[in-house]
Amino acid sequence: MNLSAAKMLLEKYGQTQLLDYYGELDERARQELLTAIEGIDFESLSGMNFHAERRVGELSPADALSLAKVDARRAEYEEKGLQAIRAGKVAAVLLAGGQGTRLGLDAPKGTFNIGVNKELSIFACQMNNLKKVVEKAGVYPHLFVMTSDLNDAPTRAFFKEKNYFGYDCTKIHFYVQKTAPAFSFDGKILLEEKHKPVLAPNGNGGWYVSLKEAECGSILASEGIEWLNVYGVDNVLQRICDPVFIGATLDSGLACSGKVVRKASAEEKVGVLCKENGLPSVVEYFEMPPEKKTEKGADGGLLYCYGVTLNYLFNVKILDGVSANRLPYHLAVKKVKHIIDGKQFVPEEPNAYKPELLAVDIVKLMGSCLGVEVERDKEFAPVKNMTGTDSVDTARALLVKNGVEI
Ligand code: UTP
Repeated sequence: MNLSAAKMLLEKYGQTQLLDYYGELDERARQELLTAIEGIDFESLSGMNFHAERRVGELSPADALSLAKVDARRAEYEEKGLQAIRAGKVAAVLLAGGQGTRLGLDAPKGTFNIGVNKELSIFACQMNNLKKVVEKAGVYPHLFVMTSDLNDAPTRAFFKEKNYFGYDCTKIHFYVQKTAPAFSFDGKILLEEKHKPVLAPNGNGGWYVSLKEAECGSILASEGIEWLNVYGVDNVLQRICDPVFIGATLDSGLACSGKVVRKASAEEKVGVLCKENGLPSVVEYFEMPPEKKTEKGADGGLLYCYGVTLNYLFNVKILDGVSANRLPYHLAVKKVKHIIDGKQFVPEEPNAYKPELLAVDIVKLMGSCLGVEVERDKEFAPVKNMTGTDSVDTARALLVKNGVEI
């Protein structure tokens, strides 16, 4: 892209400040800036509403299997799931492109050592669980690992250094997710350096589009993969390609499913799987109307009781059908260093929006979703913070409770 094309583009979208320092730059920096501008998807980002609050539609409880219902058919589900795994119909997708800012690490979150007396990374915890499925099924499911520009190289290096955690490395495929720029509160894209817009991973909702566009995306069709088990990096008890979960989903005939846990209390800060205007939807705790939060069902328990764990199974054919739909951007409020009046400004308070696509928005597009309840203490140990709720401390305690040596 040349300067005049960039000017026209930026004028159209009200972002000409990106060229404020163009005159001071050397030729290489100018080219870098123009290339970065060309890479920004202004069209998708221009639809963002900086001041809109999400309005929650008509809510009803999700289609879900309680733990008791799963237990009643556990062996049958497990067999069905194992058959699908053995037939190569199921692959896993690890969402590891996040920045993990709450944990405050420089390294990829999965490399964090959750061990106390021995080294045990978050990646290792998850791979150890996946290997248990391999032992039962006798095959290695393909594993796609989504990284970001910021953590791709160290993530690949860590897997290699750890000898792929004993997994068949020919079945592990890395791919990089896309980025989106950070905006000031008045909607202007910020510069990290005079020739560099602030670019950050564009949220976990872009995982399928990025996978399809990546080189390894062709494996889906060539290997006949029909289901993708997508999971987050920050749950150290995450069970991946769980045959029971897969079998229950296949049995339901629904387009996708999510592992859910019973909420610890009405006020717990977790997204809840519901139906919204008849479609599956994950409603965040801060969006849930207060009367719905506490509403009771016929059994006396919370009616909206199923918290999501970022572990979903998606049908690939249906994903293909919906993947052309544009997902909405959500605006995360973050602290972002940037250039003001030619100098770097380091904020002490959140000062910017980072647009993020969310995987939960794909759930809605899928049209139907089965919640499958799992035992909370056995499968849900999120690591979001160093201490306090959902922290390194709570995750360590849960690992010990589950007999994992740490
Ligand atoms: P979080 O929402 O916890 O975000 O990610 P985060 O960036 O890791 O952490 P904070 O908010 O900065 O502390 C949930 C899951 O989605 C992945 C993360 O790696 C994690 O597995 N994710 C998030 C991506 O893969 N890409 C993204 O752009 C954002």
